[in-house]
Amino acid sequence: MCGIVGYIGPRNATPIIMNGLKKLEYRGYDSAGIAVLENGGIEVRRDAGKLERLSKLVQDSPIKGKLGIGHTRWATHGEPNTRNAHPHLGMTGDVVVVHNGIVENFTTLKDELISEGAEFQSETDTEVIVHLIERYLSENDLTTAVQKALSLLKGAHGIVVMSKNEPDKIIAARIGNAGGVVLGIGQDEMFIASDLPAILEHTRKMIFLESHQMAVVTRQGVKVTGMDGKEIDAEVHNVPWDPVSAEKGEYRHFMHKEIHEQVRSLTDTIAGRVDFETATIQLPSLNLTPELVKKINKIVIIACGTASYAGMVGKVLIERIARIPVEVEIASEFRYADPIVDARTVVLAISQSGETADTLAAMEEGRQKGAILWSIVNAIGSQAMRIADGFISMQVGPEIGVASTKAYTAPLVDLYMLAILLGDMRGTLDEKKRRQLVEDLRLVPDLAGRCLDREEEVKKVAESLLEVDNALYLGRGVNMPTAFEGALKLKEISYIHAEGYPAGEMKHGPIALIDADLPVVVIAPRDPWYDKMFSQIEQAKARGGRVIAVATEGDELIQSEADQVLFVPETPWLLSPVTTVIPLQLLAYHIAAQRGLDVDQPRNLAKSVTVE
Ligand code: AGP
Repeated sequence: MCGIVGYIGPRNATPIIMNGLKKLEYRGYDSAGIAVLENGGIEVRRDAGKLERLSKLVQDSPIKGKLGIGHTRWATHGEPNTRNAHPHLGMTGDVVVVHNGIVENFTTLKDELISEGAEFQSETDTEVIVHLIERYLSENDLTTAVQKALSLLKGAHGIVVMSKNEPDKIIAARIGNAGGVVLGIGQDEMFIASDLPAILEHTRKMIFLESHQMAVVTRQGVKVTGMDGKEIDAEVHNVPWDPVSAEKGEYRHFMHKEIHEQVRSLTDTIAGRVDFETATIQLPSLNLTPELVKKINKIVIIACGTASYAGMVGKVLIERIARIPVEVEIASEFRYADPIVDARTVVLAISQSGETADTLAAMEEGRQKGAILWSIVNAIGSQAMRIADGFISMQVGPEIGVASTKAYTAPLVDLYMLAILLGDMRGTLDEKKRRQLVEDLRLVPDLAGRCLDREEEVKKVAESLLEVDNALYLGRGVNMPTAFEGALKLKEISYIHAEGYPAGEMKHGPIALIDADLPVVVIAPRDPWYDKMFSQIEQAKARGGRVIAVATEGDELIQSEADQVLFVPETPWLLSPVTTVIPLQLLAYHIAAQRGLDVDQPRNLAKSVTVE
């Protein structure tokens, strides 16, 4: 989950790379560096810490050139310090490399290289790559030397290399699922990045390298090959994302902006997919046929973190609407579980980045077992989108904040639409019911907007929680996942320990936790589980607990019983997880922001976990 940016063209590479790294900083940020070819030599600037330290270094000691590569790092091997920051030079100073991923066999390679006389300057696994390239450069050109070096690496990698002796090119390569390598095609200039936002302002024509592909990038264009050097006719995508949407606008944090974008993002994820006249759903990128849909006897949803909680909501939606059995599996478990899936099983991956290593590996496991592979993905051109037999794009634009928000509510609606389509195609959904479900969908963006309109009420509750050390979130039925997601939002950006729990399970142990110091967030909208949740509130109060309820507007009963209430508008219960989560997103955001924490780049986290 490191950030990589490269440039070759007529302009000064330094500002282009530095601005690009700034847009990728959310991917990993414990050190950063840049290398530029200047006056025939490679100039490198690197520093530990946030990108602003590197910016200051470059300002104090400028470098200028028409060819360069840069990197922001989320450390895996070696302390996050200057010595271990990328880019890494070899011994000759002729070649420089930036890398995203893990060289799983780096100790063996390092020992071998040291025995050949290589001297290492860092503790990173990456440095073995540049020494390997130098080993082969004595008898090969840069392209061949890179091919030979990469053929020895185990693990998953995104790599960008340049050499002062071949100043007309940059080489990029991708092996496995270590995060993308995107090639941006400009006018007499080319861009390389690990993710779209870094280069969106320069071009929207993109090539996405697949695993085991290399690219020789020159000012005139790019030659994509396999690792064997055989040329590949790579598809050029026209990416619709505009650069403005990747900026914060008037918001202090990307997360706050993205929470407020949910009226737009929910509208966008529905757009073009619903015919409200005929009450029908179209999801053409899933490549469904009546025969395929009829043969499905099970759907296994695989995902990580927030995406897995969306999958838990999807289970309720698909089982209730389409009557297809659904299992939800954490991707990091599924990949090693020797799962029982076959040609009648759909393995459905949910992933904002489309590059999460565990999720991609779980997809591969499904593929090996002959399953049908679908994905619901946000990042255009990402691996999870490309390797699936069919996909649904979330269509919510770049999500920069590490804590996922709009890329949680969008897949809830995508899963709801999928359930209607499958039910309709399998004949398990009658016309009347289908019309009602589609009509309810029309309400969603406005209902989300009404939740956002209550932000000041949420902010007041947040102010009363700034000093707590723990919190418990309880939900049931279609809103049980809301409890997990609300708790995850709080813990990952405020560092307060928060636990989501199935409300019905409280009496089997956790109710022992209840006391005046433990805020209990109870998600109790008017849904089929309302009565159970109301009695949950009574039980918590009876034990001296402090209850913050998420309740439906006008619910005076809960208002009289709970200590504080976060109201949401009346919502059809199958869609209620879209509205009940919004006050919990805002609650977590305001607690973290008022605690002065780094909301968009929480400690230890990265936006896309592209390593195991
Ligand atoms: C959510 O706020 C976290 N950032 C994390 O749980 C995330 O949802 C998870 O890593 C999955 O990421 P993906 O959707 O990009 O696969």
